[in-house]
Amino acid sequence: MATELPDLIETEDQLDAILTKPDSGVLESVRELESPLVVVGAGGKMGPTLAVLAKRAAEAIGKDLQVIAASRFRNPAARDWLEGQGVETRCTDLLCRDNVSKLPETSNLLYLVGMKFGTSVDPVPTWVTNTIAPMHVSERYRGCKVVALSTGNVYPNVPIATGGCSEDQALTPHGEYANAAVARERLFQYYSRLDSQANPTVLLRLNYAHDLRYGVLTDIATKVWNGEPISLDVGYFNAIWQGDANAMCLRAFRYCESPSVAINMTSPSIYSVRVVAEQFGNLLGRTPSFSGNEQPLALISNTDRMVERLGRPLVSLETMMRWIGHWIQTGGRLLNKPTHFESRDGKY
Ligand SMILES: NC(=O)c1ccc[n+]([C@@H]2O[C@H](COP(=O)([O-])OP(=O)(O)OC[C@H]3O[C@@H](n4cnc5c(N)ncnc54)[C@H](OP(=O)(O)O)[C@@H]3O)[C@@H](O)[C@H]2O)c1
Repeated sequence: MATELPDLIETEDQLDAILTKPDSGVLESVRELESPLVVVGAGGKMGPTLAVLAKRAAEAIGKDLQVIAASRFRNPAARDWLEGQGVETRCTDLLCRDNVSKLPETSNLLYLVGMKFGTSVDPVPTWVTNTIAPMHVSERYRGCKVVALSTGNVYPNVPIATGGCSEDQALTPHGEYANAAVARERLFQYYSRLDSQANPTVLLRLNYAHDLRYGVLTDIATKVWNGEPISLDVGYFNAIWQGDANAMCLRAFRYCESPSVAINMTSPSIYSVRVVAEQFGNLLGRTPSFSGNEQPLALISNTDRMVERLGRPLVSLETMMRWIGHWIQTGGRLLNKPTHFESRDGKY
């Protein structure tokens, strides 16, 4: 699979084709799924390509898998694109229990709903989205296997020398977003261990997915290209290609457990902001400038459990950087959704 990757990505159609091309691990996982697969929160950055990846895999193995993507679809283009790729859609607000009760039956659910940005201005939507929606969905889908996206933000910042937080680290992060994300996990945990009709669940603690149009690497490359200073206050990070993260989401169904299990989902290596910015400087022919200094603590994760169960990401840092550098240089479209990876106080 890795050898089939192109040197450069020139268009969004090519990017989406790469993100939705199943590898052998995805084909195997989709073979085991019962139809339909329901994906909730499918209207954001990951959902569209994840739902289509599952559809493509089913087509490739000749399996009749109905994939249903539910979201509010505030971006109608995401809905149109999904429909055009053979994914059924349901436009629904999961904060309304009645709406949730009308979603189709399934025995496998992918949960992508979340809210992060804007929390420091108004934390109420963040708490409501990250608590009420999981509760409604968990109640609706009792007994169902759930793969739920969480975030590496549930951990506190830790010294680089630790190699990052493993899944048994106490969840004591800074800031309202991260604490609401802990609450989201606690709700899924609760429904995963009910005596009757528990939901076997995997919580995937993702940090920093990348698809060229967004991600920490895109943020750094954009600043290098524009000659803006790059903050070193959070000097280290993990990064994973969105295609690898999506493949792992589908693979995770076979690890659903009751009570739930958490798995960090990111790069096995930890990267330095300074080193990455200097490498982008070489790729883009610009000299990066920096502000602040590396602090001893950062938001970083250990991936031993992921590697053991879900495998290693296939797309390397070097490949992501080459693709992203070219994308920025040639004016590829960006989502303009900065990650704010440099936040030290948990304010988003
Ligand atoms: N991408 C990353 O790097 C990253 C990193 C860490 C964790 N994660 C986690 O992974 C999950 C998926 O990531 P993502 O980047 O795709 O997130 P995202 O872009 O925020 O997408 C989540 C989508 O959920 C939908 N949603 C929110 N509230 C809803 C509601 N009440 N009813 C129905 N739909 C609702 C929204 O789409 P509509 O409003 O259009 O329906 C939103 O775009 C998130 O939960 C996030 O916590 C992602």
